[in-house]
Amino acid sequence: MKQIKTLFFKNRKLYILNQKLLPNKIQYVVCKKSKDIIYAIKNMIIRGAPAIGIAAAFGIAIASKEKNFNSFSQQKKYIIKTAKKLLETRPTAVNLKWAVERMLSKLKQYAESCLSITDLQNQLLAEAKKVLQEDIITNRKIAKNGVKLLKKNSVVLTHCNAGALACGGVGTALGIIIEAYHRKRIKMVYVDETRPYLQGARITTLELKLKGVPFTLITDNMAGYIMKTEKIDAIIVGADRIAKNGDTANKIGTYTLAVLAEAHKIPFYVAAPTSTIDKNIKTAKEVPIEERSIQEVVKISGIKIAPDGIKVRHPAFDITPSKLITAIITEKGIFRYPYRF
Ligand code: MRU
Repeated sequence: MKQIKTLFFKNRKLYILNQKLLPNKIQYVVCKKSKDIIYAIKNMIIRGAPAIGIAAAFGIAIASKEKNFNSFSQQKKYIIKTAKKLLETRPTAVNLKWAVERMLSKLKQYAESCLSITDLQNQLLAEAKKVLQEDIITNRKIAKNGVKLLKKNSVVLTHCNAGALACGGVGTALGIIIEAYHRKRIKMVYVDETRPYLQGARITTLELKLKGVPFTLITDNMAGYIMKTEKIDAIIVGADRIAKNGDTANKIGTYTLAVLAEAHKIPFYVAAPTSTIDKNIKTAKEVPIEERSIQEVVKISGIKIAPDGIKVRHPAFDITPSKLITAIITEKGIFRYPYRF
């Protein structure tokens, strides 16, 4: 098996790969209702900024069909209510907001042209499918652009999972790495395990294994030692939200890597679609950082690893200041500091 699908739409249902079960089981959650998609995003059955945006777009399309609406205004009200719930699921990844707003702007556009309830349903489903198709194309362009930054036989390090399972297509950071491997520009990939959810250990290694790319798994706190003792040519990560000045929110631990990269003079690259750039915010000060359940920190695979009743923090993302980012790779090209998108 070369690639596992993150999600697909069939017979009025969205099938979402349950990423919580990876790498041990390949199982899809069948989402018949928008509430199933809301649950899947909130509980990280699906994760990764572009992927949750795509799932949310289908959530809106499904919401427009899941009740016997008596009028167009009743249907519209219900869609808006669902959109609000979707937006509350995961606050940091702006792709979710981007996709929901895109669907709502279609709703507004079609509402003005007085379509029937069924017409609107069809149009929203077509739009959600378009969001997915566009991500596939965007991923490929990011990979093509990013490859140019890597020299022959590079050793790179990546964090979390910014691969196919975080997107609709080949992925962002991992899409570049896999494409570069095919062009003989990758010798080895160091994969951070990415505590506490272990997206690196569970998901990135699985993707690289399926693609036959040589990799070595390390725990997050080994990264500095590896940078000091091995020759690392580049660090490539994904992004959940990029401010207008290039400040980047990504999985917790990314900032630590960027500081270490600067200390060891290693280029630090961020790969993301332009839908991850939040043109409404000047700097990352305005990015809401998701705080997740402390249960995800005090337990590993359901097993308690810390005593009861202790103080625990779980910010799921951190901010890397734009000055520490060598380049941001998008489908529209490569941007460098000072960032002007
Ligand atoms: O909490 P997650 O797993 O959704 O976080 C994922 C990341 O931080 C990724 O790096 C980011 O979403 C980019 S995915 C192409």
